[in-house]
Amino acid sequence: MSVIQRLAPQSAVRGVTQAREALEARYTPYFDERLRLRQLVTYVPNKAAPIHRWFQYKEGFSYQLVEMLLREFKADPTRHRIFDPFVGCGTTPLVAKQMGFGAWGIDILPVAVFVAQVKLRGPEVYDLARLRSEIDRLLTTPFHSPSLSAPQDVRIIRLAYEPNTLEQILFFKEEIQRVDNEPIREFLLLGLMSVLESVSYTSKDGQYLRLRRDKKIPAVRDVLRSQLEMMYSDLLGERTQLRLPGLAKTLSDSRGDKRCYIARADARSFIASFDDYADIIITSPPYLNRYDYSRIYSLELCLQFVNEFEELKQIRHSLLRSHIESREPPTNDVHRPALIEILDNLAGQDLNNPRIPVMIKGYFEDMNQVMKQLAQVCRPGARVALVVANTRFHGELIPVDLLLSELAADAGFKVERIIITRYKGNSSQQMGRFGRVAVRESIAIWRRA
Ligand SMILES: C[S@@+](CC[C@H](N)C(=O)[O-])C[C@H]1O[C@@H](n2cnc3c(N)ncnc32)[C@H](O)[C@@H]1O
Repeated sequence: MSVIQRLAPQSAVRGVTQAREALEARYTPYFDERLRLRQLVTYVPNKAAPIHRWFQYKEGFSYQLVEMLLREFKADPTRHRIFDPFVGCGTTPLVAKQMGFGAWGIDILPVAVFVAQVKLRGPEVYDLARLRSEIDRLLTTPFHSPSLSAPQDVRIIRLAYEPNTLEQILFFKEEIQRVDNEPIREFLLLGLMSVLESVSYTSKDGQYLRLRRDKKIPAVRDVLRSQLEMMYSDLLGERTQLRLPGLAKTLSDSRGDKRCYIARADARSFIASFDDYADIIITSPPYLNRYDYSRIYSLELCLQFVNEFEELKQIRHSLLRSHIESREPPTNDVHRPALIEILDNLAGQDLNNPRIPVMIKGYFEDMNQVMKQLAQVCRPGARVALVVANTRFHGELIPVDLLLSELAADAGFKVERIIITRYKGNSSQQMGRFGRVAVRESIAIWRRA
């Protein structure tokens, strides 16, 4: 039973809803409610999993979800190549690689690309004795004033750190830059990047990077030590796994269909730059929730990828239009009755941000481009699993899972199932004004014709 049908009486959905009800009715036969998967669509299980725990990417899904879907799709490492066009911290290709598949992923956020690249490098890539001695050197070198500086015009950097903490961070960065071995240098840098939030007065909290002046700030050296020791022991653990017969051979075969890599690219327009393909896509696009990855990850971006505010802004504007600061105007090229109904209902409302309709339009236009790219990268019969949540603005429910399924069908996919994994509460602001409505989080399963 669909959410609109189930919740309409108390939902305070206003205005016309026929187009959405028709959409819900059309897809009701495809719904498969599996609420025991509710944890698996979150990052939480990764916090305790070797390698997956190297960097907290709260927007991610779990490694178990990827394992489960690969099993359900009866994926075969000798025949199938795995892809994630919104790779985030790299969970899909990492699990696929560990299970012996060839896999690749792209993302537009430099932090995500970096994290996923480092995590995908197995112990076979490292000189482990050298890595051990570089970790020890880094952690025992006495502090001296660094010559590096942080971007001066990014306000959050000044607010996030005590001057002394920032000096410590820059000192460690400078020491890491001295290492002339790239995998080792990047391993150490990921360690430093992973502790930036814990030594700051910020916390990633829902859609915001919140300032929390009440936080007790640990010494940078102490948290860096625990982080690097944890990462190093995970790498040794992985080496033990590699000794299992068969697996080492698969993982060391980095050629042809077994190659595994991560690249920086835009999911709306990547296809022309890659000579690659996919048999299985397991992914999760940005949700339509105003979430701005360039803001949430501004500390990490400023450590390595951004020298001034203007560069941060460029990254912001390059992201899929799921947030209100995107600049490109809508082109009106997605004409779905349910979308038109939502936009009509929102027109003339006193919205808390007037750019919300522009964002909604832009989001579906962007995802329409993504669907066309995915249709091209998929081999015939390829399966797609796309994790996404519905959303609500000013009381208007937006069935993102079904609207994206419509766009996928237009691009050449057949909708097989919509697995409902949980019902998420709406924001307290929405709840106060428009009542409580749970919105679906789902995994849409499509097959390439
Ligand atoms: C929901 S997260 C994916 C998380 C990932 N499944 C994981 O488990 O780590 C969405 C990702 O889309 C990325 N993204 C945003 N706009 C993009 C674009 N135009 N092209 C590719 N990736 C983009 C974001 O940087 C973010 O990493």
